[in-house]
Amino acid sequence: MRTQMLSKVQSSGEQSGKLVITTAEAEAHIWVYGPAIIRVNITKRPSANDQSFAVIQKPGRRITYIENKQSIEVNTSDLKLIITKSPLRFNFYTPGGQPLSEDDSRFGTTWQGEKVITYRKLFADERFIGLGEKTGNLDRRGSSYVNWNTDASEHGIKTDPLYKTFPFFIGIHSGCTYGLFMDNTHKSYFDFGATTDEQMSWFGADGGNMNYYFFGAQTIAGILQDFTWLTGRMEMPPLWSLGYQQCRWSYMSAKEVLKVAHTFRKKRIPADVMYCDIDYMDHYKIFTWNPETFPDPKAMMDELKAIDFKLVTIVDPGIKVEDGYKQYNEGVANKYFATYPNGENYVAKVWPGRCHFPDFYRADVREWWGKAFSALTEPGVAGFWNDMNEPAAWGQNIPGLVHFGKQSIPEVRNAYGLEMARATYQGTKKLLGNKRPFVLTRAAYPGVQRYSAVWTGDNSANDAHMLLGARLVNSIGLTGVAFTGVDIGGFTGNPTPELMVRWNSLGVYTPMFRNHACIGTIYREPWRWGKKNEAIIKKDIEHRYCLLPYIYSSFYQAHQTGLPVNRTLAIDHTHDDKVYDGNYQTQFLFGDALLIAPAASTERHIKVYLPQGNWYRLSTHEKLKGGKVHKADAPLTDLPVFVKAGAIIPMQDVVQSTAGHGCGMLKLHIWYGKEPNAFTYYEDDGITYNYEKGTYYKRIISFEPVKNRIVLSAVEGNFESRFTQVKLVLHGFNTKLKAINVNGESIKLQEKKHGTSVTVPNNRMEMIIEF
Ligand code: NOJ
Repeated sequence: MRTQMLSKVQSSGEQSGKLVITTAEAEAHIWVYGPAIIRVNITKRPSANDQSFAVIQKPGRRITYIENKQSIEVNTSDLKLIITKSPLRFNFYTPGGQPLSEDDSRFGTTWQGEKVITYRKLFADERFIGLGEKTGNLDRRGSSYVNWNTDASEHGIKTDPLYKTFPFFIGIHSGCTYGLFMDNTHKSYFDFGATTDEQMSWFGADGGNMNYYFFGAQTIAGILQDFTWLTGRMEMPPLWSLGYQQCRWSYMSAKEVLKVAHTFRKKRIPADVMYCDIDYMDHYKIFTWNPETFPDPKAMMDELKAIDFKLVTIVDPGIKVEDGYKQYNEGVANKYFATYPNGENYVAKVWPGRCHFPDFYRADVREWWGKAFSALTEPGVAGFWNDMNEPAAWGQNIPGLVHFGKQSIPEVRNAYGLEMARATYQGTKKLLGNKRPFVLTRAAYPGVQRYSAVWTGDNSANDAHMLLGARLVNSIGLTGVAFTGVDIGGFTGNPTPELMVRWNSLGVYTPMFRNHACIGTIYREPWRWGKKNEAIIKKDIEHRYCLLPYIYSSFYQAHQTGLPVNRTLAIDHTHDDKVYDGNYQTQFLFGDALLIAPAASTERHIKVYLPQGNWYRLSTHEKLKGGKVHKADAPLTDLPVFVKAGAIIPMQDVVQSTAGHGCGMLKLHIWYGKEPNAFTYYEDDGITYNYEKGTYYKRIISFEPVKNRIVLSAVEGNFESRFTQVKLVLHGFNTKLKAINVNGESIKLQEKKHGTSVTVPNNRMEMIIEF
């Protein structure tokens, strides 16, 4: 097979705001999207459709550049791109000229048939993080990966590819950072110096253009902010979806669903969500109910509603081939399904037997799909679980001949799940009026955060999978997707009671907290593990509910900035080698302030690396110095969790569901530290989109140790907080402190074993608390 490389530049010039460069082989188009975002699209077919499923922004200003005989230079305030002309190569620098990423000068961008690959110089100390749902180490240097959305049931802890495609990574070297998003939905490849004698990294795809966005911000948070500006950010999730979720394949009848829900209430174990997996349907026909086992869905949902539970039901893309079935007949009549090139509808087998597959890439098909959810929303379903949307079909080998309109499956497969989630989200949003739908998807592509939460598919009930799950969630967080979960307890196999308890305690610190299990496995509900373990599981779930004000504010941060809720330590401590050490790479920050050190269910002591700064153990209040490794006790009753000095953590009392109001007291925990800190506290009704019109409650809480004060800014927004009082709980402050001034008035502190406190009315004005 002939290999072609970009040769010398034949022409260059500005066209409609972009820079266009031609060589004998191809044409390169360069746009500036923002001060730190430059797009390069190298194509052999300049007229080809420039669609993107991920990108929602347009380029910024018209490009300006300086050209001489050897090179063309594009400068923005935050980036410098030097394009060499003979041969054509693309090299990115900081404005000061520090190299960020350079084409390999020998090969640059190449073609072998339709396959297009860009080879890059590998820097001696270069690390790579990201790519989303990928097994392996946090630092991906020395590994290679494939993106091809796959139904990876029974996957191992090294399996690649899994269900999702996120062709976006962050490079770190020489004290610098950069990001690169190759927006190409063909099967794609990333090699981070695995097989090139440490000379090159490379990325490419089986077809399409070498189309990438380069990000030059010099912090990972900045890169994520820019990446999520480009591909969109999540909306505020419904508050109930952040509560505890109970799932199983399957609760086989309405009676069983209700029994489980009532047991939560009887045992006073907080929970918000029940799920119906595939068996609620009539012969697995999407948008139907099994008339025998779910004879009156509305009655079931009314009963769930009365005890503050929400229901989420599964939907798969495969539409059963069966004359008389509404979705089948409509889909065939309107030509809504994937076809062979001769126009015949493609058939493959999934749960319902022989199925057709909707063409979610088409707006009219998405509209049709979205409307069909009325069969679920009318009786009261509130959440919509999109499964099998890689798409999966038995045999897992959909022929490349299969087409969605003019596009063949090899070209667009990796975006199928994204487009299904989009159709589901947009349709249910319309049907639910002003209420926020909850959508969960297994397959994904960048941009999915605009529509849906994701979970990591069919993991297994063992420690290695639990720890892998934490890394997957952290890595998916590096691609702009904050709302992520794993099957807690492990989908396949049966967890030991110890594993169930431990995994549940880690679930508290996972954005989506869902217990799920495969058919044929033992039941997983919190009361199935003996009294002692039930008590631990209950206590941990209660802790999740206490943390909800903090968690909701962290989701607000994701909504505003694209920063994930679960953050690999690499985000804040990018240049600290220790965070990439195999012993500590699973640790993460949950929101701004809590460091979670996952421990296996068999471990009772672990080593924890606390980065620079001062820390406290959450459970014991023990003070610990950062920048070093500590030994930590890890009993099953106490997952090692640490609080950053200076942390501001809003909490509430235990409630039985997110519909509960508790006693109306917001507990504002402040952990003393020498560094100032600020936290954006955010609240809204948790249900509607009214927050988009100003109905929210937001205040900045600042801890100012140098001035010995804490300031709660005046409230922004017109939502009335559900908390009428604020209890300020101080940890690690001077023990001689007996009273504090609140807006000038001295108030006595109440002493408790851990921390002292004072309670004040939650008014909307600025509150200055001097200590
Ligand atoms: C595969 C999904 O990954 C799993 O979560 C689900 O329970 C089964 N399909 C059955 O719907």
